[in-house]
Amino acid sequence: MEAKKIRSICCIGAGYVGGPTMAVIAQKCPHINVHVVDINPQRIADWNSDNLDELPIYEPGLSEVVKDARGRNLFFSTDISKGIAEAEMIFISVNTPTKTYGVGKGMAADLKYVELCARQIANEATEDKIVVEKSTLPVRTAESIKTILEANTTGVNFEVLSNPEFLAEGTAVQDLHNPDRVLIGGDQDESGLAAIESLTEVYANWVPREQIVQTRLWSSELSKLTANAFLAQRISSINSVSALCEKTGADVDEIARAIGSDSRIGPKFLKASVGFGGSCFQKDILNLVYLCHHFGLPEVADYWEQVVKINDYQKKRFAKQIIDSLFNTVSGKKIAMLGWAFKKDTNDTRESAAIYVAGELIQDLAEVHVYDPKVTEQQMINDLVYAGFGTEEEVSKLLFVYGNAYDATNNAHAVSIITEWDEFKELDWKKIYNQMFKPAFLFDGRNILDRKKINEIGFDLRSIGKGL
Ligand code: NAD
Ligand code: UDX
Repeated sequence: MEAKKIRSICCIGAGYVGGPTMAVIAQKCPHINVHVVDINPQRIADWNSDNLDELPIYEPGLSEVVKDARGRNLFFSTDISKGIAEAEMIFISVNTPTKTYGVGKGMAADLKYVELCARQIANEATEDKIVVEKSTLPVRTAESIKTILEANTTGVNFEVLSNPEFLAEGTAVQDLHNPDRVLIGGDQDESGLAAIESLTEVYANWVPREQIVQTRLWSSELSKLTANAFLAQRISSINSVSALCEKTGADVDEIARAIGSDSRIGPKFLKASVGFGGSCFQKDILNLVYLCHHFGLPEVADYWEQVVKINDYQKKRFAKQIIDSLFNTVSGKKIAMLGWAFKKDTNDTRESAAIYVAGELIQDLAEVHVYDPKVTEQQMINDLVYAGFGTEEEVSKLLFVYGNAYDATNNAHAVSIITEWDEFKELDWKKIYNQMFKPAFLFDGRNILDRKKINEIGFDLRSIGKGL
């Protein structure tokens, strides 16, 4: 069976994954029409904005990619029916958050949006389609998707592929242009293999073929959860060691360098921090934990759950260190927070450590004064309310947001660095010291500052995984 040459793609979901991924496919494949659809009209309007600074997602290099392709072969709209009707290949790239209700609450992935997409495709397709799971999904989801698609009674044939996305936010465009690998899983029968080949040909427009890994469906689905679990596990491992360093006088960055130069371990993802955030790690590990319980493997579930528990511990430990250092109370004190995004070079705040640190401080009645180069005040308030740290009115009384780091740190009792934005390294720290209450505490949650210089200024500096 010949692999079909794809000329039209639809992607359902114009978020952090759907938007950049499709923009790059359109850029690299001018012969393919790429139509990105979403139920959120504001999001689509923002993708279509004339002002490329107003794209709904901030990612370095993204506006240039969108500029190249938008209006040529890249289109954004809310017309999902048209998108489905016209496409030979449909990517499902909708959100799959942790369930907040019912069976699996707090653990399992909520697949209601994925299911809705599958139902809509089943209802509207009048020609054969290749349906691609781009969202991160529990292993064997393709089985459910196929069952729903088979409800279509017009004799249309559907092939379901798994093509998980490995981009990291902040480097999405770079990751999409030069991926370590592209993973495509599908059925191993004749039509499944032909569908795998069709998608391989799309990526082969810019990704070397030897980097396109083809597997069975279930291996592909489970590889994505496993990759995120392994990455997060490294961070929790080094963060757990950081607690021991603080007790013993060892230096966690020296340890990371020492162990990372072992080629079997490697240097990446060994940066101790205030804790990992982002929309993926916690959600995907909890999903893995849920799956292990579901398949009767409680020991395996407990093993992976510990990665999330250590991360929670690290965030709490950081907030507690601030409170303990400030003589056991922060009530009425002004604590400056530099950074709110979950990492630098993104405006995404989902599961950011900032939310939990600020929340703990607010519960202790501190005033939290924040500056982040890309996150709005309303977003910060929404994050705190959503995480259960109070009503909008309550959190607004103790949260103050500024347009630069100097205003946020003026008259502060302590400064904490939560996100590793490059500009924080370049600040005039002497000036900040001079305008703070003394003793001036500085909590470097990312270990980005030169300790010697900062100590010389006079700060009482606490870094992650470094003894006093
Ligand atoms: P997101 O919330 O930014 O975007 C999802 C979009 O889907 C939203 O704009 C929403 O309006 C839209 N949507 C939901 N239901 C819809 C429907 N029925 N029809 C049309 N549109 C609908 O989410 P995201 O960060 O892009 O993540 C999407 C998936 O990719 C998730 O499964 C996630 O785990 C996975 N993933 C995310 C990242 C990342 O860095 N964010 C990386 C790899 C994989
Ligand atoms: C992650 C995966 O890296 C990516 O492959 C997947 O597709 C989506 O999930 P993302 O969450 O966007 O990407 O960013 P990542 O760079 O992995 O950082 C996640 C969190 O871990 C951030 O809060 C980051 O600051 C933190 N981190 C990362 C550390 O604390 N230490 C490290 O060494 C690396």
